[in-house]
Amino acid sequence: MLTVSSTDRVFILTGAGLSADSGIPTFRGLGGLWRNHRIEEVASPLAWHRDPQLVWEFYSMRRRVASAAKPNPAHFALAKLESVLQDRLFGCTQNVDNLHERAGSRTVLHMHGQLFKSRCDTCSRPPFDDTNLWEPPAEVPRCQCGGRIRPHICWFGEVPFGLDRINRALDQCTLFIAIGTSGVVEPAASFVAQVSGRARTIYVGPENPANASSFTECYLGKAGEVLPNLFGSFVETGSEAAGSDKRSPSDPVPGNRPGSQVVHKNDFGIK
Ligand code: OAD
Repeated sequence: MLTVSSTDRVFILTGAGLSADSGIPTFRGLGGLWRNHRIEEVASPLAWHRDPQLVWEFYSMRRRVASAAKPNPAHFALAKLESVLQDRLFGCTQNVDNLHERAGSRTVLHMHGQLFKSRCDTCSRPPFDDTNLWEPPAEVPRCQCGGRIRPHICWFGEVPFGLDRINRALDQCTLFIAIGTSGVVEPAASFVAQVSGRARTIYVGPENPANASSFTECYLGKAGEVLPNLFGSFVETGSEAAGSDKRSPSDPVPGNRPGSQVVHKNDFGIK
C-alpha cells in the first residue's frame, strides 16, 4: 500500500513499459530496430533531412499501433491517483501515445512529444492535432508557409519539452515514482538522482532499471499488475502521521503482492 501524507508532493515518471501491456512494444523490446533501421535513423533531425518520407512511414506505423491500443490497469490506476491528489501529483511521461489521457489523466507532461500532434518544421505555427497516416505513396504534408509538417516528437539530439516545469516539480517533490522505464535515456534517467536523499524513490517494472541503485524501493512486476495493488488501497495520512504504516491485517505486505517483489527497500525517504 502506498502511504502519502497531506504534505507530500508526488512526481510520476512513466516510460514505454507502462504501455507494454496495451500492446505497444517498448524500445528495448524492439531491439532498437524497426525494419532493420536503428531507431536513431528514423527519429532524428538528420533522418528528417535525409528521408522525411521514411520518417513519416515510421510514425504512421506508430500512430496505427497506438490507435489500436487501449489503456491498461496501470494507466487507470495513475488517473485515479491524480484525481485524489490533484495538483499535488505531477505526471511526466516519456511516452508519446495518448493512453494516459484516454484513461482519464488530465495533466500529463509529454516530455518526448505527442504522437497525435504535428507541427511545421519551418514556421512558428503551434502544434496541432493530427491523426493522419502519411505513408507512401502519400507525399510529406506541407504547411501553408511552404515548410514541411513533421511529427511533434522530441527526436534524438533535440531538447525535451517542459524541462523548466519538470525541474520545478522535481525540486518540490517528496515522493518520486518511476514506472516502466529502463533508466538509460537522459535526461529522464537522472531525475531520480536529482531527488534522492530527500525524496522517497520508488521504481515499478519487471526488471531493475539501469539506475536501480538510486531508488529506495523497487517493485518488480508488470505495471498493470503492481500499480492497482500499490495505489488501490492508497492511504493518505495527516502530516503528523507521515510514513506511519496504516496497513490493515489483511493487506499484502510489500514483497508479497501478486506479481511484485521488493528487491531492495530502505526506510522511507532516508538514504
Ligand atoms: P525502454 O524501452 O528503454 O524501457 C522499457 C522498460 O519497461 C524496460 O525497463 C522494461 O523492463 C520495462 N517494462 C517492460 N514491460 C513492462 C510492463 N509490463 N510493466 C512495466 N514495465 C515494463 O523505454 P523507456 O525507458 O521509456 O525516446 O525509453 C526512454 C526513451 O528511449 C523513449 O521515450 C524513447 C527511447 O529512445 C525517444 O524517442 C526520444
